[in-house]
Amino acid sequence: MGIMSGTSLDGIDAVLADFNSQPPSLLHTFYQPYDKNLRRQILELHQSGNDELHRAAMLSNALAHCYAKAVINLLKKNKIEPQSVAAIGCHGQTVRHRPELEMGYSIQLGNAALLAELTGITVVADFRSRDIAAGGQGAPLVPIFHQLLFQDPKIHRVIVNIGGISNITSLATNTEVVGFDCGPGNLLMDAWCQRHLGATYDENGTWAESGKVIPDLLEKLMLLQFFSLPPPKSTGREVFNIIWLESYLSGNEKPEDVQATLLQLTGTTIANAILAYFSDATEVYLCGGGARNMALTSKIQVLLPKKKVALTDTLGANADWLEAFAFAWLAKQAILGVPGNLPSVTNAKEARILGAIYKA
Ligand SMILES: Nc1ncnc2c1ncn2[C@@H]1O[C@H](COP(=O)(O)OP(=O)(O)O)[C@@H](O)[C@H]1O
Ligand SMILES: [Mg+2]
Repeated sequence: MGIMSGTSLDGIDAVLADFNSQPPSLLHTFYQPYDKNLRRQILELHQSGNDELHRAAMLSNALAHCYAKAVINLLKKNKIEPQSVAAIGCHGQTVRHRPELEMGYSIQLGNAALLAELTGITVVADFRSRDIAAGGQGAPLVPIFHQLLFQDPKIHRVIVNIGGISNITSLATNTEVVGFDCGPGNLLMDAWCQRHLGATYDENGTWAESGKVIPDLLEKLMLLQFFSLPPPKSTGREVFNIIWLESYLSGNEKPEDVQATLLQLTGTTIANAILAYFSDATEVYLCGGGARNMALTSKIQVLLPKKKVALTDTLGANADWLEAFAFAWLAKQAILGVPGNLPSVTNAKEARILGAIYKA
């Protein structure tokens, strides 16, 4: 099984996969949204504050209970015994991602020992730390799975996972796989929408489409140094958050115009990264929840007129479940004792076995 809970903070994607089939197949899926309270607690732990060690430990336990519920629900609904599941790859909930520090780290909460107890299934967790210890960014980790599913011997494909943050994988025909975080995915649009409409996201980008891009604001946001840094690079809510956005607002903007600008920023930074580094690619496949934002996907197609832009669904892999599917596969790698990272992506000095194993 794979469990993904990403930077969008929308909730938990759980999947059951079969890796004996060729290609690997997705058998069952289950989605558990976070409740408001849990989302707030996660957000609060993105900054330092009073008694944060205790709060982190408590949240870690609460997350383990949520993950266990998702696992048990998926299994019950499909009449599957826990004993028949080899392992759960649990990404955990990132609250800090600081790979750039001299002594880098990335923290994912979700008590894996407790999850193993609650489910009776072996759990693999903490996938990013070993890559960082080996000098890497610890992210993105999905490119190796994109390679397994989507590499074509003749066509240069690019895969874009639009989660809270967007990450790009390049599957060229003659060079190594490359991938990096290129900037915001849904997280800025979600935060702005939450503030002004009280909704967790702007469905299909309809609200953004009702506004007009503010060129001056877009220009200022695009000046952020992260966008011009060469890969390897990865990022998170430390860089992209509503406080960063607000520092460029006068307060007189129409909210829908800001939303239009954020959608434009998201689409433009994705398209620019592809044009800057993978201009030879002819096909671009989108996945992650942001791939369901039709205003955003059409924007990306407009910005990349010479490339075919489609969803990974058209390659046989449902865009909503791909990342959880990847963490199921990464758990398999750990259990088999084989590497899960791509040094060409993360810049780790060598391939490493990723994750800590909590036996059932
Ligand atoms: N129909 C839709 N329209 C716009 N945005 C959507 C739609 N469906 C999902 N999303 C976005 O996708 C997000 C969830 O994407 P996900 O891949 O789970 O990201 P993460 O991995 O960061 O959790 C939601 O928070 C929302 O922003
Ligand atoms: Mg999610």
